[in-house]
Amino acid sequence: MNQWPGLLKQYKSFLPVTDKTPELTLFEGNTPLIPFARLSEKLGVELYGKFEGLNPTGSFKDRGMVMAVAKAIENGSRSVICASTGNTSASAAAYAAKAGIRAIIVIPSGKIALGKLAQAVMYGAEIVEIDGNFDQALKIVRKVSETSPVTLVNSVNPYRLEGQKTAAFEICEQLGSAPDVLAIPVGNAGNISAYWKGFKEFNEKFETGLPEMHGFEAEGAAAIVRDRVIENPETVATAIRIGNPASWKLAVNARDESGGVIDSVSDPEILDAFRLLARNEGTFAEPGSCASIAGVIKQVKTGQIKKGSKVVAVLTGNGLKDPQTAMSQVEVRPAVLPATEEAVTDYLSNVIHV
Ligand code: F0G
Repeated sequence: MNQWPGLLKQYKSFLPVTDKTPELTLFEGNTPLIPFARLSEKLGVELYGKFEGLNPTGSFKDRGMVMAVAKAIENGSRSVICASTGNTSASAAAYAAKAGIRAIIVIPSGKIALGKLAQAVMYGAEIVEIDGNFDQALKIVRKVSETSPVTLVNSVNPYRLEGQKTAAFEICEQLGSAPDVLAIPVGNAGNISAYWKGFKEFNEKFETGLPEMHGFEAEGAAAIVRDRVIENPETVATAIRIGNPASWKLAVNARDESGGVIDSVSDPEILDAFRLLARNEGTFAEPGSCASIAGVIKQVKTGQIKKGSKVVAVLTGNGLKDPQTAMSQVEVRPAVLPATEEAVTDYLSNVIHV
């Protein structure tokens, strides 16, 4: 077979892969860096989207999960556990299924986008819903994994960040160097930390340069921006509905070392970016992902991102994950007509202007 080999093979020399690490892959990684010409023109920057929604389970989590599950197996584990706002659980369930081990997922009841839940069900995970939020779920699984023979695969597992840093490698390879600004959504703060590690490692080896890291939390869950734990985080972007990020310190470090900023964006700003991206660029990314685009729009206005800069926005998950939020954005309902050629032709003659 002549195809992309998956992350563990492609970036073996940068990863904790040994002779004993199983050759696990769903052919994750190698996602496109899409030039956003129309948004670039509107904003006056050179904007690209790293579309992580095109990974095998539809989010960036696959990069970290392939590494974490492979290492769990290498170390003799037969089951993995995680708390999740949806994407981590979908990814853990898929890699556990591929590897033939158990996945136990603990999720906040009623706050998981429909597509993510469908994935966990189909991949055969054991699903526990709690009447609480992600932060409470994470606390519970951390405790359980200390006392039971299950491996924790949330991003507090360092192998997760090792796998996720490979997206920074790909951006440097695709652009030929690091961008001026890396815009990224922030939830539990693992991914911004992983990207920074990746940019530093690649720069050390290939002198690809370092970006300013611009992280974006949802306004109702902006713990790092406010510098305090948010007890009851709320946002339409359920993926990043997190009030006590586990990698808080690492994210602040990435911000400060890179001369960047962690900022917040409101739900209306996120939803505007969600529609704008789909309609102007044909790219359907889930609401949480669009915090990065919303953040770029906000900071171009405030001057925190300079005109003419080369900006990469990370689009962390696929829009198909959350059909309900997408449908709530529909302003014009589809026309319902009788199944006759005449009715449809009549209707279209009024909407098609040649
Ligand atoms: N975007 C999406 C689509 C996510 O699912 C997440 C996190 C983030 C951004 C934030 O990344 O946590 O590394 O800062 N989702 C986790 C989950 C929490 O359980 O799926 P982060």
